[in-house]
Amino acid sequence: MNTVTDYVNPDLVPKVTLASGDKIPAVGLGTFGSDNYTADVIAEAVKQAVRGGYRHIDCAAVYGNEKEIGDALKELFAEGVVKREDLWITSKVWNDKHDDVEGACRESLSKLGLDYLDLYLVHWPFPNYHAPKVSVESRDPNAKPYIHEDYMKVWRAMEGLKDAGLVRNIGTSNMTRPKMELLLRDCRIKPVCNEMELHPHFQQPELKKYMEDNGIAVIGFCPIGSPNRPERDKTPEDTVPIEDPVICEIARRHGVHPAIICIKWAVQNGQIPIPFSVKPAKFMSNLRAAVEDPLTAEEMAAIKAIDKNCRFIKGQVFMWKTARSWHDLWDEDGIIRQ
Ligand SMILES: NC(=O)c1ccc[n+]([C@@H]2O[C@H](COP(=O)([O-])OP(=O)(O)OC[C@H]3O[C@@H](n4cnc5c(N)ncnc54)[C@H](OP(=O)(O)O)[C@@H]3O)[C@@H](O)[C@H]2O)c1
Repeated sequence: MNTVTDYVNPDLVPKVTLASGDKIPAVGLGTFGSDNYTADVIAEAVKQAVRGGYRHIDCAAVYGNEKEIGDALKELFAEGVVKREDLWITSKVWNDKHDDVEGACRESLSKLGLDYLDLYLVHWPFPNYHAPKVSVESRDPNAKPYIHEDYMKVWRAMEGLKDAGLVRNIGTSNMTRPKMELLLRDCRIKPVCNEMELHPHFQQPELKKYMEDNGIAVIGFCPIGSPNRPERDKTPEDTVPIEDPVICEIARRHGVHPAIICIKWAVQNGQIPIPFSVKPAKFMSNLRAAVEDPLTAEEMAAIKAIDKNCRFIKGQVFMWKTARSWHDLWDEDGIIRQ
């Protein structure tokens, strides 16, 4: 990998204040390499990104690289590049650990070499014991739908992690409004955020507003439209945000890649994008997008108008036996399907 020569002053990167009062940097580095990048390559990118000014890293147990990222963090601390408190580290409990949230959290902490996480998320609201290894065609016989009582057991364990100081903040991912309504009704500690798919072709304005109205910040995954996502997550109907003529025209005007316009739009729209790249030129330009040359109100309005309600991460590997299609995972008609 090329060494980072670019640097963005982290103090200039906007921060979003969570309901807990903690401030999360408005751009984070994604670390899901799919099958395209090895754990070592991603860990090296983390090291270079922190040197370049990144202070927010989005990790997850299921990405299979927390040990390598932990080694990278250890080096950064030993070299005095940053202190632990300078960084925002997120991790997530995977679907196969819903019955042992504390064990999963402790394992992530151990691999990452940390004694606390800034944010711990329930990765998906579905318990599932084999995904993501199942193919799109087959269904995991153990897959289960969302069952609120089970999810609340997971959430009680999440609350316990916060009480114990193992994590500073707890949040959700891939939640819908009906599921979040139940969680808000029954929780003791509210989630500070929901991590969800957000890009110019999937803006989810109603869900985003609902979250924000309830003091829940919105972390946006696939902010560039995940052009290199796994084949299992591609369908013929999918669109390509970075090829959208409106995005391309705005990019031409600003003299940047269309990906940068997606990041600027996300930050200015109050989201917290977590773009992925291991390539220094790309990940540094993604961070720089948040600190210079903002989009105009007209450009923001033009991007608002190109929403296509096109979900890329459909979650089809989590379909349970009686689910009719992946649409059943998303409670689209306001009903939680089982
Ligand atoms: N909570 C969840 O369920 C969930 C689900 C999905 C993802 N995530 C998180 O969100 C992160 C981001 O999602 P993602 O990786 O799927 O999608 P993404 O960030 O939208 O897209 C990443 C792709 O965009 C390309 N790219 C990045 N910066 C670029 C730039 N400046 N110019 C041109 N191309 C650029 C990269 O290409 P190269 O490969 O060539 O660098 C990379 O393959 C993940 O890494 C993960 O941390 C969370």
